[in-house]
Amino acid sequence: MSILVTGGAGFIGSHTVVELLNKNEDVVIADDFSNSHPVVLDRIREITGQDFAFYELNLLEEDALRHVFENEDIETVIHFAAFKAVGESMEKPVKYYHNNLTNTLILLKVMQDFDVKNLIFSSSATVYGEDNPVPFTEDMPVSSATNPYGETKLIIERILQDVYASDPSWSITLLRYFNPIGAHPSGRIGEDPNDIPNNLVPYITQVAIGKLDQLSVYGDDYDTPDGTGIRDYIHVVDLAQGHLKALSKSDLPGVHTYNLGTGVGYSVLDLVHTFEEVNNVPVPYQVVDRRPGDIAEGYADADKAKEDLGWAAQYQLSDMLRDSWNWQKNNPKGYQS
Ligand code: WQD
Repeated sequence: MSILVTGGAGFIGSHTVVELLNKNEDVVIADDFSNSHPVVLDRIREITGQDFAFYELNLLEEDALRHVFENEDIETVIHFAAFKAVGESMEKPVKYYHNNLTNTLILLKVMQDFDVKNLIFSSSATVYGEDNPVPFTEDMPVSSATNPYGETKLIIERILQDVYASDPSWSITLLRYFNPIGAHPSGRIGEDPNDIPNNLVPYITQVAIGKLDQLSVYGDDYDTPDGTGIRDYIHVVDLAQGHLKALSKSDLPGVHTYNLGTGVGYSVLDLVHTFEEVNNVPVPYQVVDRRPGDIAEGYADADKAKEDLGWAAQYQLSDMLRDSWNWQKNNPKGYQS
């Protein structure tokens, strides 16, 4: 029996595949390389010494997806494949809604047809919206996101609730990621943004390597100890491990929702200073206006995943920032290096 990983060549997908292969799971990857690179597959093989089945396809190509289910003995699907750039989603909402929603609907239709009813879905802490107090617990009301990308995560969570309500033999796990950073400690796989990074840590590493001049810190007038925004940064390898723990429960029918975060918040300046200390490299920055749509602070209550899944993040902030830098240094042009 195999696990189908959609978006398995992406940042979180590739790290999850490594952990799955390290546990001798049979993995089938489906990816169209729209935001990743074929060399990722070689790197995964190199790190693990294991192989897997690979299908180059876009989930919107229903027939190609059916072919995967015909060829492989799929038991569970981990669904990462999605567009994820918040800013781009505001400029191109139709592109985001079409891709993220339609690809999930096609996947669900094909899963139903092949009687595969175990799904782990990549959701996001963005579903907690702007009004919930920290720390965020899974039972808090979810609310409309401030951008189409986040909205697609919310809508898909709702679709999956309806799927389960219609057929209680499904097992659906919604994993709400906080802020994944870091890279595999080998430095062979990591985050490789297509363009100028939107997210804080890839921006910092590109400043540190001299590709970008300086970091813009989006606001220092928030109601936080140093005035900059606070987030729950989590090492991507910890996040990957969270999927393995979720998998071990994925035969229990229901909709299971878990935060994957450390439960600890750090500010933008904490990240800058820790990065400089751990890696001994300067990160010039200037404070600019707040970024529209940002909240002051967001971090997880991570107790539920600990109690139900026996999962807790292991890596410290310094480890995360060391591994992010190690990846950037070893691959100055990402996978094109
Ligand atoms: C973190 C902090 C910024 C960039 C977003 C999505 C979320 C998820 C992850 C992914 C904030 C500050 C950032 C910069 C800065 N999506 N910042 N200068 O906004 O928490 O979450 O990405 O696939 O759904 O909403 O993450 O890394 O963009 O920002 O000062 O150049 O860093 O204001 O406080 P965010 P982020």
